Amino acid sequence: MKSVPEPWRIKMVEPIKMTTKIQRQNALMEAGLNPFLLKAEDVFIDLLTDSGTGAMSDRQWASMFLGDESYAGSRSYYQLSQIVEEIFGYQYTIPVHQGRGAEQILFPCLVELAKEKGASEPVFLSNHHFDTTKAHAEMVGARVKDFICSSALQTNIPDDWKGNFDLESLANEINHNRKNIVAIVITITCNSVGGQPVSMENIRIAAAMARDSGIPVVIDAARFAENAYFIKRRDSHYSDTAISQIVKEIFDEADIFTMSAKKDGMVNIGGLCCFRNNESLFRKAQLRCVPMEGFVTYGGLAGRDMAAMTIGLQEALNEDHLHSRIAQVEYLGNQLQQAGIPIQTPVGGHAVFVDARKIFPDIRPENFPAQVLCNALYLESGVRATEIGSLMMGRDPVNGQQEPSLFELMRLTIPRRTYTDNHMSYVADSLIEVVKKAGTLRPLEFEYEPKVLRQFTARFREV
Ligand code: F0G
Repeated sequence: MKSVPEPWRIKMVEPIKMTTKIQRQNALMEAGLNPFLLKAEDVFIDLLTDSGTGAMSDRQWASMFLGDESYAGSRSYYQLSQIVEEIFGYQYTIPVHQGRGAEQILFPCLVELAKEKGASEPVFLSNHHFDTTKAHAEMVGARVKDFICSSALQTNIPDDWKGNFDLESLANEINHNRKNIVAIVITITCNSVGGQPVSMENIRIAAAMARDSGIPVVIDAARFAENAYFIKRRDSHYSDTAISQIVKEIFDEADIFTMSAKKDGMVNIGGLCCFRNNESLFRKAQLRCVPMEGFVTYGGLAGRDMAAMTIGLQEALNEDHLHSRIAQVEYLGNQLQQAGIPIQTPVGGHAVFVDARKIFPDIRPENFPAQVLCNALYLESGVRATEIGSLMMGRDPVNGQQEPSLFELMRLTIPRRTYTDNHMSYVADSLIEVVKKAGTLRPLEFEYEPKVLRQFTARFREV
């Protein structure tokens, strides 16, 4: 593959520290064999998440000096909403502190609306809900259902659109349960199945089904630009279309979007909750914003945070940026594949997802094969990754049984504009070493299991 140089040079560096194996053993013991509980200082290359961990540009940093810190009516707010209108075509903008802030102010309004229309058992439908999205739906008494296409489940079989809805089962659900459906949430790219894109056609059909039945369409837009880039690359109909135009076409299909701007928004903190033209819903969400996030023109952000987001949203659309970003994820994925390591294929937008079920066929889901792999990788190399599998899935709140997980994946999540390809080669070399020793690694069990969101604070021991 031809190399893809980054469209930037480095102006400032932040030292990261390599530790010794003994130091890492001690740090991991202290963290209860849970990489989430490590001190970040003890991590060499941090691939826990791409959320809020990227590097801002010189223009973003410079814009922060011009942030308007007025409590109400900040100029930075008006500049942000103008850019939102230009990029997405949405009239009404509420800034929020991050993606889940948007979920917490929007979802109660949507459920209320569905109940007014006769919903007795409200349910959100999605290609796949992100975990906080699911949590916020459940916290307001709704259920969630995922309709991911079946190819997403077979990590070794490539498919361009593994983020797609299974449209047949979606249509079936709409036909049989119309009155209970609160909204259709289109997650682009689909994080939970591997940062996989949704095709324009799939977005259009899913949205049309919702529209025809009077169901609101919400885009979970955390990685909107990466999804648009995949559409440009993989759908010949769009190969000559500008990313900005593709983004417009995607968002034309929806009524509302929630966004964690910590991903493609390229900021360390921030989010958005935006409405195309539904003024009354916008007013309702604004009312919830004030007590939960802050006054409606800052939503929990400093003026300078909104200024940086305004620039970040524009930089996200730059095709050279997207090209080098996705190429870096592919670069890591290719090295792993060449060494025979099973990953979700093709690689997604923000991360390489390693299939731990295939590496440890004998470790049962309740002994967390992907967590075993995360720990071994940290001990080998100081690289921190995250588990997306049974541990994150948790227990059924009613019967207390482990919920079945579609996958046991280790996510190597790549922050934007932060690490070099040399870092990626080091990650690949280290993981290849770990997988050679897979037979010697021991399953895990809980030493301490919190009742909710257990993956963040649980402690483990080896079985
Ligand atoms: N939606 C998606 C698709 C996400 O990936 C995330 C966060 C959120 C919503 C919530 O946004 O964190 O700003 O409140 N994903 C991060 C991750 C945490 O590591 O995948 P948030």
